Amino acid sequence: MKLIECHNLETAYATSLNRPILNDINLDIDQGEFVVLLGLNGAGKSTLLRSLVGLVPLVKGEIHIHGLEMTPQTLPKIRREIGMLFQGGGLIRQLSAIENVLCGRLGMRTTAQTWLGFPKRDCILAQELLGQLGLRDKIYQKTSQLSGGQQQRVAIARALIQSPQILLADEPITGLDVVASQQVMQILSELNTQQGLTIITVLHDLGIAAEYAQRAIVLDAGRVVYDGKCDNLQEQFSQVLSL
Ligand SMILES: Nc1ncnc2c1ncn2[C@@H]1O[C@H](COP(=O)(O)OP(=O)(O)OP(=O)(O)O)[C@@H](O)[C@H]1O
Ligand SMILES: [Mg+2]
Repeated sequence: MKLIECHNLETAYATSLNRPILNDINLDIDQGEFVVLLGLNGAGKSTLLRSLVGLVPLVKGEIHIHGLEMTPQTLPKIRREIGMLFQGGGLIRQLSAIENVLCGRLGMRTTAQTWLGFPKRDCILAQELLGQLGLRDKIYQKTSQLSGGQQQRVAIARALIQSPQILLADEPITGLDVVASQQVMQILSELNTQQGLTIITVLHDLGIAAEYAQRAIVLDAGRVVYDGKCDNLQEQFSQVLSL
């Protein structure tokens, strides 16, 4: 059984594009894979990632995660298996690093439990994660006062606090300098190799993609135009997109 299966995914027709945003997407991803999602601006990469956590209405097709078909009933269970790093971070700037990380636990708690605050074990786990990601001295700092690379690590900790099996990362290194980019990619790589986390990440840098991922999927106008190894990625990318 594949970890992620997408069959014939199609979104509603978008009049602004004269086509559906996602158009007949078929994909299978195994446990433990490190996949990079590539394509030009507007190709549908973010939409595809968001569809895997049920944030995109589909008019056709099916998504199975661990054999479980995504339906309104199964979505809460599926979402607990998937951590997501949104394009641009998606952190709450007014909250501290640890408060943002604890937000990653909200999906596991009822509204009433949320009123009571987070249990001590969640707070300890959040502190440990931030420590492991090199932010031990920033735990109580307001997120707006952290650098882009530090914010990205807070976002990773928030995604990891629910111990997901799958991590979806939408442009995790966009806007970061060379050193911070390598650090974030290294963190993702270690999560993949050491903890067996399945990773799908959107990147725009083909060199970094080839350095870290084993498999590349290229989207163009909502369709998969390449799905294969990262060998000669620059050439493959230019060829499939006729650049
Ligand atoms: N809610 C929406 N309603 C209508 N069109 C949308 C919506 N969301 C995205 N689109 C359009 O769908 C296309 C794909 O958007 P998406 O954000 O998935 O692209 P992307 O590949 O992630 O691009 P980028 O590299 O710029 O992040 C774009 O043309 C966008 O304008
Ligand atoms: Mg995007």
